[in-house]
Amino acid sequence: MSDHSGYVGAIDQGTTSTRFMVFDRGGNEVVRHQLEHEQILPRAGWVEHNPTEIWERTRAVIASALTKADLRAADLAAVGVTNQRETTVVWNRRTGRPYGNAIVWQDTRTDRIASALDRDGRGDVIRRKAGLPPATYFSAGKLQWILENVEGVREAAEAGDALFGTTDTWLLWQLTGGTDGGVHVTDPTNASRTMLMDLETRDWDDELLSFFGIPRRMLPAIAPSSNPGCFGTTRADGPFGGEVPLTGVLGDQQAATVGQLCFRPGEAKNTYGTGNFLLLNTGHELVRSRHGLLTTVCYQFGDDKPVYALEGSIAVTGSAVQWLRDQLGIIGGAAQSESLARQVEDNGGVYFVPAFSGLFAPHWRSDARGALLGLSRYSTNAHVARATLEAICYQTRDVVDAMTADSGVTLDVLRVDGGVTANELCMQLQADILGVPVSRPVVAETTALGAAYAAGLAVGFWRSTDELEQNWQEDRRWQPTWSAEQRARGHAGWQKAVSRTLGWVD
Ligand code: G3P
Repeated sequence: MSDHSGYVGAIDQGTTSTRFMVFDRGGNEVVRHQLEHEQILPRAGWVEHNPTEIWERTRAVIASALTKADLRAADLAAVGVTNQRETTVVWNRRTGRPYGNAIVWQDTRTDRIASALDRDGRGDVIRRKAGLPPATYFSAGKLQWILENVEGVREAAEAGDALFGTTDTWLLWQLTGGTDGGVHVTDPTNASRTMLMDLETRDWDDELLSFFGIPRRMLPAIAPSSNPGCFGTTRADGPFGGEVPLTGVLGDQQAATVGQLCFRPGEAKNTYGTGNFLLLNTGHELVRSRHGLLTTVCYQFGDDKPVYALEGSIAVTGSAVQWLRDQLGIIGGAAQSESLARQVEDNGGVYFVPAFSGLFAPHWRSDARGALLGLSRYSTNAHVARATLEAICYQTRDVVDAMTADSGVTLDVLRVDGGVTANELCMQLQADILGVPVSRPVVAETTALGAAYAAGLAVGFWRSTDELEQNWQEDRRWQPTWSAEQRARGHAGWQKAVSRTLGWVD
């Protein structure tokens, strides 16, 4: 490591934007730059991203952040990559060009592929081996759809020329080689979201591959999330302008779990982004959910045994606030959802179930669709805004209840992070609806921080996870204020609303 390498970088390739951040040894943010990319919505239920645009945004945010902070490649001991999970990219090994747009995790075009899995017993094999309920959410169905519908991909895949990756793999390919051929690799946290990896062997499974007709040659190698062996080195003529070891890769929700320092079994975090993702560290034990959660790899550091997690994935939370802004036009920006919702004392009987992509955990119902219920002549935009914030919190409540039922772990406090945690009203409602205190750390950018930690641990920038503990500090804590009766009544209304949305799509 160079004497000057006083920092670690992290690329966070998320659903709506890509950011690059640099952290110092204390886990403090030194600089960041962030750019959004287009959400391509060609028809109802379809959500796509342009992989080339994502790569261009990635280059731009890295270059701008380094310039802003007057940093060079040599100042960085290592770089980590974290990413929206499941989103599926296929590109040509020889040209480096993608075969069309990426199919995003929220996309429901594969609902027929997913529902067929439970009709002939394949679903149970997927549950047992991959730890996942068959759903449109995961990558395998999306990859099957591309193989069946995008011209030339099947032939190229059989010939070994078409490569699959989630966006971590796509960016690693570009950062290390691009058209000259980069590394083709992922980590077990991302691989565990495909329905193609066996959680016990942490290798691609031939039986699972056969369910979707996917040639093994398309798939990347799987290397530890914190990888002393290095995923690859950035190209000197790339956005870093020099060679930096890429030594950390984690799916974004697992990265946030690391960034929140949930290293002990029983520790959990909830990230409020486009969706909400609550992960509970279950240690080296693979816990199978009986209440609608999924089992996933939490992280694997070097040669250590992998750590697993139970996860409650909620598809639509922050994106429901965006929907108020972009589709309904009742707020000008995310922050306004708070001021508008504060205009009313309560939800006025209005519930909003934002089941835009069906319902994920703990229901797993792709036949659900969104609904606004309980409207009366008295209802206003403020009630809708309030109901939207409450929906974020009630969906989390359902996941926490499932987690308690599965693991027996009762939360003393919920550690939160992500963009929506800036909404103070939403966090107060979360404490009220859960009946548990909610705690936000000083560094709320835990996703990028977790990827930086994984990368820095691999090169000895940080010596151990113990050394990281002192970096976590609480910024704010919200205590529950509702009575038990008020909490139960509110939740009963929510459950009634959810039941109305099920089975909407045939
Ligand atoms: O599983 C999807 C998740 O990784 C997306 O996270 O933060 O990009 O909404 P985010």
